[in-house]
Amino acid sequence: MEELLKQIQDHKSEIKAFTATDEKAVEEFRIKWLGTKGLVKTIMGEMKNVPNEKKKEFGQILNEFKQFAETKYEELRSSTSNFKPQTSNIDLTLPGDIIPVGTRHPISLMTNRIISIFQRLGFAVAEGPEIEDDWHNFTALNLPEHHPARDMQDTFYVQQNPDWLLRTHTSNIQIREMQKGKLPIRIICPGRVYRNETVSARSHCFFHQVEGLYIDENVSFADLKQTLYFFAKEMYGSDVKIRFRPSYFPFTEPSAEMDISCMLCKGAGCNVCKKTGWLEILGSGMVHPNVLANCGIDPNKYTGFAFGMGIERPALLKYGINDIRLFSENDVRFLKQFTSAV
Ligand code: PHE
Repeated sequence: MEELLKQIQDHKSEIKAFTATDEKAVEEFRIKWLGTKGLVKTIMGEMKNVPNEKKKEFGQILNEFKQFAETKYEELRSSTSNFKPQTSNIDLTLPGDIIPVGTRHPISLMTNRIISIFQRLGFAVAEGPEIEDDWHNFTALNLPEHHPARDMQDTFYVQQNPDWLLRTHTSNIQIREMQKGKLPIRIICPGRVYRNETVSARSHCFFHQVEGLYIDENVSFADLKQTLYFFAKEMYGSDVKIRFRPSYFPFTEPSAEMDISCMLCKGAGCNVCKKTGWLEILGSGMVHPNVLANCGIDPNKYTGFAFGMGIERPALLKYGINDIRLFSENDVRFLKQFTSAV
């Protein structure tokens, strides 16, 4: 028995002195001492040779030895493990990296605001193609071939097919909706349009529009005025004044342009409104009977009004931007300034 006690003492000294720098050495320790063929098992096996009267005393010694080896193993493991926050050089308390959140384009902010005002009046959003055929962009809108008013909108034609063009306004969507023949129609048509104009700080060869169309029985010019007045108040504030000036569009009769009182000088006259006190914001009118007929709608039964406005100009005003080209340069320094809703 003395020999066994000595052996345990030696083992303990060896275990105590053992050090490990990596997980592999710790695993070797486990196999040597605690594995199924390890030395702790072997020593425990000596129990059967211990005389009965000593079994209790020896049992305790052996158990204590086993625990000694196990405790050492746990210590070795935690000192070499990768998951030890105290000694790791990763600082888990550091704040995380900020993931930049995108912002909405000012043109989208403006468009969405306009759309939401008309949606409250029951208008639905409709969309259509940017590459359009001549008929949907011009002819159906009462602009037959050689009509002088075609020159009002300088057009980009598609080289492969002279019947195709880049739409010059979103009125093509209105034609497509009317052709579907489902009445009444109450739609708002946002989208990008193209005109062959010299690019400068004030104008671009593409820009954005929102047009609207309402067709039903007994739609009158009074409806047009009230709808657009509601829009102007929601958009520019309840103290805004509006005025209509007679105008000409081939697809509407009568036609009118709508001005709002200048929101910068409140009508007193400033540089933005060119001292007039008024800003022109949209074109409008009663849909021409020829347009209704071209789309298969009976002009004797139905009437309607239409309007169209550009987005860039009001956005320039709203945000105090002085160059329309900034909208399409995609400079992040410009774009990230528009974080809030309009
Ligand atoms: N389509 C016209 C334009 O682009 C705007 C407009 C629409 C005018 C509807 C009157 C009625 O200039």
